[in-house]
Amino acid sequence: MTERVLKLLDPAPPEPDLGHGYLDLLGEVAGPHDTVAQRLMRSAGLPRIYEHVWRPVVFGLSKGGPLGPSTAEEYALAREWLGLAETPDATVLDVACGPGNVSRALATGLTGDGLVVGVDASATMLGRAVADTPPGSGVEYVRCDAVDLPFREGAFDAVCCYGALYLFEDPWAALAGMARVLRPGGRLVVLTTRRPGLPVVGHGMGALSDLTGIRMFSPAELTEALGTAGFSTVRRRSYGLMQFAGATLA
Ligand SMILES: C[S@@+](CC[C@H](N)C(=O)[O-])C[C@H]1O[C@@H](n2cnc3c(N)ncnc32)[C@H](O)[C@@H]1O
Repeated sequence: MTERVLKLLDPAPPEPDLGHGYLDLLGEVAGPHDTVAQRLMRSAGLPRIYEHVWRPVVFGLSKGGPLGPSTAEEYALAREWLGLAETPDATVLDVACGPGNVSRALATGLTGDGLVVGVDASATMLGRAVADTPPGSGVEYVRCDAVDLPFREGAFDAVCCYGALYLFEDPWAALAGMARVLRPGGRLVVLTTRRPGLPVVGHGMGALSDLTGIRMFSPAELTEALGTAGFSTVRRRSYGLMQFAGATLA
């Protein structure tokens, strides 16, 4: 764990727990929120198949199959919308990093002495992230609650939150937290669910949300929430049941 990550924290722990290859700020706490989807994220099995099987299939179908962007295109969009190429030595936060797939993809866009900090609440996901991230990749991991980020105000140049806002107990508090840890003018990119416009489909999705704990957001709802959190210049793209939003902190 680099000193650089410890310096981003507020407050920094007096005795950091680094025993698993990531900084663990949750310890024995299982996780912030107990739903079917969250239990799956904390399981031992999902992290093993997440990056190469689960994500391509589940996200692929949700993005409308061949009509949506590939995983590589998703990652390229994040690097571009976050402006990584134009931000030397960027400090980037990857919220709900899972097994580190997005963190590593963001790190390929860093220039100079850049750093990606991937945070997640799941110990099994982070175990996989550490195992799959070669040393010197420019990525470090922290186990914490994404809805209560432990970083100091304005610590990051850019924040990415892919595939997770819909899992959080309070997604709007999470967005407010992301705004807090971004520097003024810093950029945010979000990939989350999109509630279909047709009322009958939307109703069915509501029932599914209640069952699984996965929420669906209308594009207008997300744009409004970004505005409330202090973001401007919202860019967006929608594919099937997913939407991307990019924004700049005012
Ligand atoms: C579907 S994975 C997304 C991984 C990656 N960002 C991607 O796009 O492939 C969702 C992740 O969100 C994490 N997560 C859910 N709620 C969280 C919370 N409150 N704090 C931190 N991580 C959380 C889960 O543990 C899981 O690893």
